[in-house]
Amino acid sequence: MSFKLPDLPYAYDALQPYMSKETLEFHHDKHHNAYVETGNKLLEGSGLEGATLEEVVKQSHGKNAPLFNNAAQHYNHIHFWHWMKPNGGGAIPGALEKKIAEDLGGVEKFKTDFQDAGKGQFGSGWAWLALKGGKLEILKTPNGENPLIHGAVPLLGVDVWEHSYYIDYRNRRPDYLKAFIENLVNWEYVEKLYDEAK
Ligand SMILES: [Fe+2]
Repeated sequence: MSFKLPDLPYAYDALQPYMSKETLEFHHDKHHNAYVETGNKLLEGSGLEGATLEEVVKQSHGKNAPLFNNAAQHYNHIHFWHWMKPNGGGAIPGALEKKIAEDLGGVEKFKTDFQDAGKGQFGSGWAWLALKGGKLEILKTPNGENPLIHGAVPLLGVDVWEHSYYIDYRNRRPDYLKAFIENLVNWEYVEKLYDEAK
């Protein structure tokens, strides 16, 4: 197996005005592509050539940091493109909304806590909604790390590396996070991952 850069599931300008064509061109064509190309070079001779991407992420963690960083970022970005859609945000599908109410104190509290996780991640990283041991939780991780290595299944993640927002929002990470949760999230994709993880 080798890593392959997927196409975006929408046009480069489809997420405007919340995420620009220029951001997606750089983020997908340059940054994600670099993780794929570097990851493929590091995969050779690693002993994990036959593993699935998820297995490469889990098994390289703590053992092969360069491979882990690139493989995890490849995994994160594959999902990140699908975690957004044109005219995103809006209502959360019923079963997931109920679970958020049960485990995270309701939709509004979840939205606030999720954005706070993104704001509070010092430097590069991600904020997550994940399922662990049957319960939803919010977490934040540095660099390419993701919930998989914490025994959890990622359901929603937001990239808080500057490359994800600096062109459109400059240093205003909170504005980017608000736009992400209110106007970009593809809840149907989150629901699909939740159904698979249950
Ligand atoms: Fe990124």
